[in-house]
Amino acid sequence: SQVPYAVNEPVRSYEPGSDDVKSLISTYKKMWKKKVEIPMYIGGKEVKTKTKTPIQSPQDHQHDLGFYYAGDMSHVDAAIDAALAAKKQWAALGWEQRASIFLKAADLLAGPYRDRLNAATMIGQGKNVMQAEIDAACEFIDFLRFNVEFMTELYADQPISADGIWNRAEYRPLEGFCFAVTPFNFTAIAGNLPSCMAMMGNVVVWKPSHSQVYSAQVIMEIFKEAGLPDGVINLIYTPGAETAKKVLSHPDFTGLHFTGSTSVFQGMWKMIGDHIHKYKTYPRIVGETGGKDFVMVHPSADAAEVATALVRGAFEYQGQKCSAASRAYIPKSLWKEVQKIMGDQLKSIKMGSPEDPSNFVNAVIHQQSFDKCKSYIEAAKKSKEAKVLFGGKCDDQKGWFVEPTVIETSNPQYSSMCEEIFGPILTVYVYEDKKWAETLKLVDETSPYSLTGSIFAKDRYAIDEAYHALENAAGNFYINDKPTGAVVGQQPFGGARASGTNDKAGSKMNLLRWVSVRSIKETF
Ligand code: ALA
Repeated sequence: SQVPYAVNEPVRSYEPGSDDVKSLISTYKKMWKKKVEIPMYIGGKEVKTKTKTPIQSPQDHQHDLGFYYAGDMSHVDAAIDAALAAKKQWAALGWEQRASIFLKAADLLAGPYRDRLNAATMIGQGKNVMQAEIDAACEFIDFLRFNVEFMTELYADQPISADGIWNRAEYRPLEGFCFAVTPFNFTAIAGNLPSCMAMMGNVVVWKPSHSQVYSAQVIMEIFKEAGLPDGVINLIYTPGAETAKKVLSHPDFTGLHFTGSTSVFQGMWKMIGDHIHKYKTYPRIVGETGGKDFVMVHPSADAAEVATALVRGAFEYQGQKCSAASRAYIPKSLWKEVQKIMGDQLKSIKMGSPEDPSNFVNAVIHQQSFDKCKSYIEAAKKSKEAKVLFGGKCDDQKGWFVEPTVIETSNPQYSSMCEEIFGPILTVYVYEDKKWAETLKLVDETSPYSLTGSIFAKDRYAIDEAYHALENAAGNFYINDKPTGAVVGQQPFGGARASGTNDKAGSKMNLLRWVSVRSIKETF
């Protein structure tokens, strides 16, 4: 059988005054007023505990949204047991039945659940209308539909046979249960990590960020309505470090699909190493773990294109993207013009709550994030090696608002040039035009990460030079474009070095990690 050919979900434009925008904002307002009680889901059942934890919205931390029920280690055990109990029947189900569930989930999201998941993402994770649409609706729909297609392509990949011999590859799920650990910053990633493992016949314990519970709840509602059987994906809100210890020391643990910080991922990898003798099989480890993404500009580049790419790349989504532009290398000859255009653009940017769709920048996710951004800004204000060129105001009275901030430094190794901040802060180093080749080397060597990066140039030789010099500096490399906004099916996403295992989300390469192949030879 053949699955429907996947195409990218069209992004709604939400023109001011349109029915689409009215409907989304009215859903947002209704949900904003309602106090929710968000349970965990174990073995298909809603689980409520005595630990009621308030849900905060980044744009108004005093507003009462309700609470989620947090769990303890008994819930981790229960989630593992429920996953293992569901395993046999789920793994034996034909792939068409699994595909059908996830295609239906995509249709539910494209239709009746679109406003609800977008609004949940706006309320809980502070995205504006377009950002929620691109993430929670379109990217998540694309992950579901494209992965179904990739799954069938993968299964169709068969070895050659010969006279009297029939060779086959059987793509079995992994033996045991999988663990998905997901971040706050993308609803699509939170949905994709557990669902792509489940699609391949695996059972999953899913622990999202506690700053993403609002949209995680809606994702679970969609999976349930699409017909996902009980126990295939078990959603728990339990303390991260303890949960990791429990899950990763279980003999039936078989795969980790992670997006989050480098240090947490490395800690989990070590734990897996410590328990390696306990497992039935070597676990699959897939992680996407942050970036310090560069924009490298050649003197032949167009200043206006560079300025726009920097503003969009650094400040869309409040810079809370692992792909966000956070360090830029600009030749002296272009800097004045780039700076002027950036300044003009930044003046027109509005910051505020997403219920007003004209706000481009919203609050950062929580207090720790706010404090971290503020500390880099304060340090730059005091430093002899840096100055704050634009922005720099931080206001936490109502929400966690950090103004889009541009720092210029004279030191290419300055802290905000090297360290991941995960907020709306861009640091610029201005280089002498004749030092282009040395600066390319700097770009490659300054950061341990290797997620995304851009080269801006009109000179084709310069593009080629950067292409080779930065060959290992970015898993997603952009030529004359901002380093953000990878689209499923178009730019498979992920990086190496400290940015992860580079298994490319939304691709066959990723799905291959969640199967264990049996080679079968039959002779006649
Ligand atoms: N996939 C997201 C992007 O490319 C993170 O910006």
